[in-house]
Amino acid sequence: MTAPEHERPVPAFEAVGLARSYRLEGVSVDALRGVDLRIDHGEFVAIIGPSGSGKSTLMHLLGCLDRPTSGILRVNGVDVATLDDTGLAELRNQAIGFVFQSFHLLGRTSALDNVALPLVYRGVGRSERRERARRALEAVGLAHRLDHRPSQMSGGEQQRVAIARALVGDPKVVLADEPTGNLDSRNGQEVMDILTELNAARGVAVVLVTHEREVADLARRRIHVRDGQVELDERDGVGGSPQGVSAQGDPAAGRREGP
Ligand SMILES: Nc1ncnc2c1ncn2[C@@H]1O[C@H](COP(=O)(O)OP(=O)(O)OP(=O)(O)O)[C@@H](O)[C@H]1O
Ligand SMILES: [Mg+2]
Repeated sequence: MTAPEHERPVPAFEAVGLARSYRLEGVSVDALRGVDLRIDHGEFVAIIGPSGSGKSTLMHLLGCLDRPTSGILRVNGVDVATLDDTGLAELRNQAIGFVFQSFHLLGRTSALDNVALPLVYRGVGRSERRERARRALEAVGLAHRLDHRPSQMSGGEQQRVAIARALVGDPKVVLADEPTGNLDSRNGQEVMDILTELNAARGVAVVLVTHEREVADLARRRIHVRDGQVELDERDGVGGSPQGVSAQGDPAAGRREGP
């Protein structure tokens, strides 16, 4: 049963006809072509699809790192079109933690200072920044690596630093673009354990892009993207029933055959 519209909680993300085109040497590339999507707080979602299908483009829009060309995107109920660049950066900083496949850490800066950086933009004082960064690193099992630079850490450790940096601001949502893509299976498993625990214990919504079936299967919902559109929106069944399939937006989408 679906609650009446006015009683439903504000979703983490709501996209209507979301589109993003890139202009490249006079040619327009339509990376996203009308995505309708709702992701609630507390969900654990995997975004899957072929290379070039628009997954990272979608993640950048959800993460307020980029703006749509057309369509509506609401983050925590706020229409991003109503925000200037400062407002967009604030929304991102307050609500969202972002983890990239390639880590995006500052190479000459210690793990502690890398993790503390987002708090600088929030105006948190130095000693509190360092304390919170230390706790975030502890939470990902890196209490013994606070003073190491990224170049002095393994790939798995660097990815965990990137996760600690995404967590330090207590985001309601963590977006992760192929968080296990550069890792071997053991390190990948550790990263997934952290994200799963974060979702289960703290109710943080996790939205991740992955090419790996086992990783996608850890999520309770899988959004299949193809050619810049949502092809299939698949949710795990409730109460042990076989995997339920529900369409978002396009009612035909759920009936379409898989790849
Ligand atoms: N800055 C850009 N300028 C022009 N075209 C771009 C740009 N970024 C992405 N594209 C194009 O938009 C499409 C979608 O790219 P996107 O990075 O979202 O794909 P993806 O699904 O994340 O792929 P992958 O699995 O390989 O990471 C691709 O055709 C890509 O070439
Ligand atoms: Mg990508």
